[in-house]
Amino acid sequence: MASTTHTVKIAIIGGSGLYSLDGFQQLDTIRPQTPWGLPSDNIIISLSPEGHKIAFLARHGSGHQFNPSEIPVRANIAALKSLGVEVILAFSAVGSLREEIRPADFVLPSQIIDRTKGFRENTFFEKGVTAHAGFADPFHSKLADLIYAHTKEALTEGSSWHKNKTLVCMEGPAFSTRAESHLYRSWNCDIINMSVIPEAKLAREAEIAYQMICMSTDYDCWHESEEPVSVQAVMATMAQNSTNAKKALSFILPAIEEALKEASFLEDIKGSMKFSIITRPT
Ligand code: ADE
Repeated sequence: MASTTHTVKIAIIGGSGLYSLDGFQQLDTIRPQTPWGLPSDNIIISLSPEGHKIAFLARHGSGHQFNPSEIPVRANIAALKSLGVEVILAFSAVGSLREEIRPADFVLPSQIIDRTKGFRENTFFEKGVTAHAGFADPFHSKLADLIYAHTKEALTEGSSWHKNKTLVCMEGPAFSTRAESHLYRSWNCDIINMSVIPEAKLAREAEIAYQMICMSTDYDCWHESEEPVSVQAVMATMAQNSTNAKKALSFILPAIEEALKEASFLEDIKGSMKFSIITRPT
């Protein structure tokens, strides 16, 4: 079993196009074996340029080896939990379903519609132990408010923030059809990705405060005057998005460290699973 002397409270999960955080000073590298297998890649424990300790994990692996349906999400969340992680900032490239959310904008979703197909392993509780986590509000709203309050000026010119949006999570790996893209718009979804489920559910079960920071890369395929989404388009916008992600982190990390000094910041998530297990003890 791999081990480290470091405990880390804040984890950053990087998605498509965000496979590392350059400028961060690497302190340790660990790939813990968990009861659910190995995480997607090494977890890099590092210091931000401003001196804040974080654990970084590339969701798809550093060479993007895992497609969204194959990511070992339970191992990822369990490995971060084993390091003492209390807060996850989960970055993700997303398609925009709204005219006003332009490529290179950043979005803090507050709701999710799950359109995955049901074969992703989405709970730690199974095989004789049943639990039902509360998931009405799938993200940590205090974390979202904190991020929004501290990063309004953090993006390069032309990019803006949006908050309180609805994220639809599709199975993939192929992108949506035009009919599906229009359907999601008619459901009032604002952005689309392939990876918030089951990550958000498992973080909730692990009592980790979780907020996804979505980086818009394309207009999916509903927009009449834009090309339908392609990997090329996603990766082209991600070059600018990853610069913005690192800039935003320089504002977010000090604010979170400060907030974590107050026990009240995580009071809604810590202990939230206490009454969720329904299986009768034998
Ligand atoms: N990730 C980035 N763009 C996407 C899109 N249009 N659909 C699903 N996932 C995405």
